[in-house]
Amino acid sequence: MADEKQVCLSGKGLTKIFGFGRQRTLAVDHVNFNFYEGEIVSIVGESGSGKTTLAKMLLGLINPTEGEIAFQGQVRDISSQKKRKEYWKNTQAIFQDPFSSYNIFNKIDAVLLDCIHMRGGRGLPQDKKVELMTEACGFVNLKFEELTNKYPFELSGGQMQRLMIARIFLLKPKVLLADEPTSMIDACSRATILDMLMELRKEIGMTLIFITHDIGLAYYVSDSVYIMEHGKIVEFGSADEVILRPKEAYTRRLINDVPKIYEEWDLTTV
Ligand SMILES: Nc1ncnc2c1ncn2[C@@H]1O[C@H](COP(=O)(O)OP(=O)(O)O)[C@@H](O)[C@H]1O
Ligand SMILES: [Mg+2]
Repeated sequence: MADEKQVCLSGKGLTKIFGFGRQRTLAVDHVNFNFYEGEIVSIVGESGSGKTTLAKMLLGLINPTEGEIAFQGQVRDISSQKKRKEYWKNTQAIFQDPFSSYNIFNKIDAVLLDCIHMRGGRGLPQDKKVELMTEACGFVNLKFEELTNKYPFELSGGQMQRLMIARIFLLKPKVLLADEPTSMIDACSRATILDMLMELRKEIGMTLIFITHDIGLAYYVSDSVYIMEHGKIVEFGSADEVILRPKEAYTRRLINDVPKIYEEWDLTTV
């Protein structure tokens, strides 16, 4: 069917084992999933359930021990540096700690220019590049003129996080993974960042994957929710199915951990 949703990123039997013998940890245990184009997915689980390990495999930062990942229907091949770079044009992340995301020796304009170059804009005239960078900064309420000569570490945590979103605005990836993107900052900037991510998703139509222990956030933002426990996906479905009608005791426990927020939503949805 023409309007059938296309699978953007999928995993089959995806597994990661760290270490050997007594040090052996089965961090991700034969997980299967289909993330569709343009959907918002949350992967929820307690600390240590394997969320970050799964995210790192999806990003190609660590190799699966077993299983495969497919991107737009093709088994992913990132065996060479060139293929890896190509994959990263389409699959990007924003991380828990914005400070770790930048090369500290690169000034902000270099960070943004790099994104333009990655999208094939190396040959653009300088004023066009400045226009694109100004637009990207404007999108996240930063002023490009005030940033050009600064280093990322001269920014506040909230500004850095917005700069990360400006990068994504320029890169226009097909998939964006956000691993606890808002835990470093206060509740107010947290809401702003979420709004910006949602805006950005509307703008470029990417698949957005939230990795979080916050099942409240998952309910609020997602189309689909995947629940992880001890490396396994124990339950998945639409946000309503999983969070309003959970089948697993583990999911119910995650929900019970945030009773207040949950009640607040019940009021707002009346
Ligand atoms: N590089 C690593 N080496 C060894 N064990 C690891 C490594 N990274 C993660 N683990 C282990 O894998 C499990 C899952 O961790 P992680 O994916 O970080 O979970 P989460 O992000 O859900 O908190 C944990 O038991 C963790 O200690
Ligand atoms: Mg984690």
